[in-house]
Amino acid sequence: MENEVVVRFDNVTKLYKLYKSSRARFKGLFSKKVPYKENRAVKNLSFEVRRGESVALFGRNGAGKSTILKMVTGVTFPTEGEVYVNGKVSALLELSAGFDIESTGRENISFKCSLMSMNEEEIKAVEGDIIKFADIGDYIDQPLRSYSSGMKARLGFAINVNAQPDILIVDEALSVGDKAFQKKCKDKVAEIMADEDVTLLFVTHSLTTAQDFCSRGIVLEKGTKLFDGPIEEAIEFYEAKN
Ligand SMILES: Nc1ncnc2c1ncn2[C@@H]1O[C@H](COP(=O)(O)OP(=O)(O)OP(=O)(O)O)[C@@H](O)[C@H]1O
Ligand SMILES: [Mg+2]
Repeated sequence: MENEVVVRFDNVTKLYKLYKSSRARFKGLFSKKVPYKENRAVKNLSFEVRRGESVALFGRNGAGKSTILKMVTGVTFPTEGEVYVNGKVSALLELSAGFDIESTGRENISFKCSLMSMNEEEIKAVEGDIIKFADIGDYIDQPLRSYSSGMKARLGFAINVNAQPDILIVDEALSVGDKAFQKKCKDKVAEIMADEDVTLLFVTHSLTTAQDFCSRGIVLEKGTKLFDGPIEEAIEFYEAKN
């Protein structure tokens, strides 16, 4: 039996409005007369991803890759069309999004996990793993405002990889922390990716990494899907275009 669809984009368009200044942007909230330029970051995009699939997104800077991932995680919404997501999403992008800087690391673990619809019991079950992975010592009980940016990223990463996601979203710029921590992250991501039930959406500019981890590739150009198919063909297509 074919696995069920866990991510579906139905004719999705994302329009960003570019105002001349932040003041104009604010005025634009209340009046339609304030002039702005339009940037269609994603255009009429449709695709489906089934449980356990691993999909790489290719495209030049500004092609819309991160915008697509952000719509899957719910950080941003489509202007037109529909995005359907079924499952617990863990995102290795914007690692400190959703943190409360006045709360401690430990409190933030509970908070972020509950945002991922985990109940108290599930949170308790992974808390130890998260703390161990983040490896920030006594700071775990200090408020986040006392963390270095590397420490915040470590905690964010630790939560996302240990929360047992159904859908893992990875945006390449995955260089969190020092060399040793980066290695630990890569190993952990590889371990999650190896789980056949976990669905992966992966953005990278490294074609070999994509080939290592993904079986399918989608090529984007200026927000439009140009190719969607087996990873080798997607890479060939992308290389021929660039
Ligand atoms: N918050 C925003 N406001 C306005 N425009 C935005 C915003 N975020 C992205 N854009 C624009 O949308 C387009 C797509 O951006 P996106 O970040 O999705 O590209 P990308 O494919 O991830 O690029 P990169 O490889 O550089 O990460 C770009 O033209 C970008 O300038
Ligand atoms: Mg990006």
